Amino acid sequence: MTAPSSRLFFALWPDAATRRTLDSLAREVAVETGGRAVAADNLHLTLAFLGERPAAIVPELCASAAAIDGLPFRLSLDDVGCWRKADIAWLAARRAAQLQELRQHATKALATLQIVIDERRFLPHVTLARRTESVIARQLTPPIEWQVGSFALVASTLDPRGVRYEVLRNFALTASDDRP
Ligand code: 2AM
Repeated sequence: MTAPSSRLFFALWPDAATRRTLDSLAREVAVETGGRAVAADNLHLTLAFLGERPAAIVPELCASAAAIDGLPFRLSLDDVGCWRKADIAWLAARRAAQLQELRQHATKALATLQIVIDERRFLPHVTLARRTESVIARQLTPPIEWQVGSFALVASTLDPRGVRYEVLRNFALTASDDRP
């Protein structure tokens, strides 16, 4: 018998208002590119993709993610583009220093558990549409402002209706004034 495993990733999970804004953009971009909009409930930004991992590792992952000392930040999502090879259209941020910093914290936390994630350049994005048929490249003015106050550990499952994501736990990013 094989031990249960899950496809796991850390992600920024949008609040309801940000999700609505991302959803309307995703629908618009899907129409423009002839693609399929990502379902509203599935919109997110992956911080670190862990892949298939034994379910037993989740408590350790949560403990090390909870110890991450990150601050809340504002992410200005201003860049709509696409990857032809993957046929996806995405939303990204031209300036994302604090997001890159959070990614580094996550990478270090994972390293303490002997989990090494893909070392290639991190290209943070929110996938808006899949199976796109034409290209898109647009600057958003004004950008979508996402106030990031937490990140999440998420499990991805495939069922007959497609991919489904389950937030296993949220981790707050705490402003320095709130720290003990
Ligand atoms: P995508 O939206 O560009 O497909 C769950 O699958 C999340 O992990 C998605 O955000 C997906 O990105 C991302 N993901 C899937 N496979 C990945 C990989 N090998 N490296 C990095 N991110 C990956």
